[in-house]
Amino acid sequence: MSIQPHGGTLVNRELKGKEREEALQRAEGLKQLKVSDWTISDLELIGIGGFSPLEGFIGRGDYENVLENNRLADGTVWSIPITLSLTAEEADTYDVGETIALRGEDGIIYGTLDLQEKYAYDKQQEAEKVYGTKDAAHAGVQKLYERGEIYAAGPITLLNRPDHSDFADFHLDPVETRALFNDLGWKTIVGFQTRNPVHRAHEYIQKAALEAVDGLLLNPLVGETKSDDVSAEIRMESYEVILKNYYPADRSRLVIYPAAMRYAGPKEAVLHAIVRKNYGCTHFIVGRDHAGVGDYYGTYEAQDFITEFEEELGIQIFRFEHAFFCTECENMASAKTCPHDKEFHVHLSGTKVREMLRRGEKPPKQFTRPEVAEVLIKGLQETTVKA
Ligand code: ADX
Repeated sequence: MSIQPHGGTLVNRELKGKEREEALQRAEGLKQLKVSDWTISDLELIGIGGFSPLEGFIGRGDYENVLENNRLADGTVWSIPITLSLTAEEADTYDVGETIALRGEDGIIYGTLDLQEKYAYDKQQEAEKVYGTKDAAHAGVQKLYERGEIYAAGPITLLNRPDHSDFADFHLDPVETRALFNDLGWKTIVGFQTRNPVHRAHEYIQKAALEAVDGLLLNPLVGETKSDDVSAEIRMESYEVILKNYYPADRSRLVIYPAAMRYAGPKEAVLHAIVRKNYGCTHFIVGRDHAGVGDYYGTYEAQDFITEFEEELGIQIFRFEHAFFCTECENMASAKTCPHDKEFHVHLSGTKVREMLRRGEKPPKQFTRPEVAEVLIKGLQETTVKA
């Protein structure tokens, strides 16, 4: 028996075949709304059931309850509001009760929204409640401040997917990962969220978790990230290389998570766990400063926060302390397992590593696998040349 989707049912709001063709034709005649890539990624996640039980962009009742209590109006745990924003002028052009076509910057109609509600919201309040800060320098808060001032809510229909053809071999929907786990005979699966290349610390905590379960779902986020994060294309290549060289093929799978990164730390850890539950994972890793950015969150704040909801969520959380290579232990370790002084611990900041890679220097192999470093050096140098 696989794990129940969040809320009990795996949502499917996507039309296919003739129904889709007809809906697309109808959508051409509807009022149009230009939406961002971020919104399209939310639309896709709702459509394919990654955000189950959401069937659309949330209305005011759910919104307020999510901000205040980390729950939808019916009590289901939900930590980050999934919303569609409009400017006030745009909002005036749509009437509640009508269906709106959602068109990307590229002109493609990605889906439709049955407009049930329009409501104003307080950005500062949302920033404080979701991100724990009103600081516009926070990558997620900055995005929030750029949004329109009205939210449009209602169920959606997904008619086109964003282009994931670069990652076609690693593109599975929650219903497909569930079937895959079943075919592989995996009963317990640990999900791993990442927006970074896999370093030795990531590898260590994944493998420590894998000692206790049947399989690992390496589930990197490939939607929008902040500009100084390594691009999804380069990262995907690095994941393939590390899996091929260092992971057991029959116990690990790479599948994209096509969402945007919010950098909401604790709140995003809960969202990440919910989504992985929908993908069929029974376990989820929350390590050091999960989904954090800068120093907005405490190192273990996400672990503490998710603990409040763990039992109700039904997905088991593997918590890991800050991991590092210890030259005395000659091994990966953490404060929990290593007795040596800090001077023996190999620590490198993300910024420092990126600088090294851009210069074409490999970080020490205690930090990054050489095969991964090679992919990153090549990728980052090509990106620099292009820029
Ligand atoms: S995240 O924004 O996607 O969380 P990242 O890709 O760095 O960022 O982390 C992926 C997962 O690994 C998160 O659960 C994070 O807490 C964990 N993690 C990252 N680095 C370490 C480390 N050195 N020690 C322990 N856990 C870590």
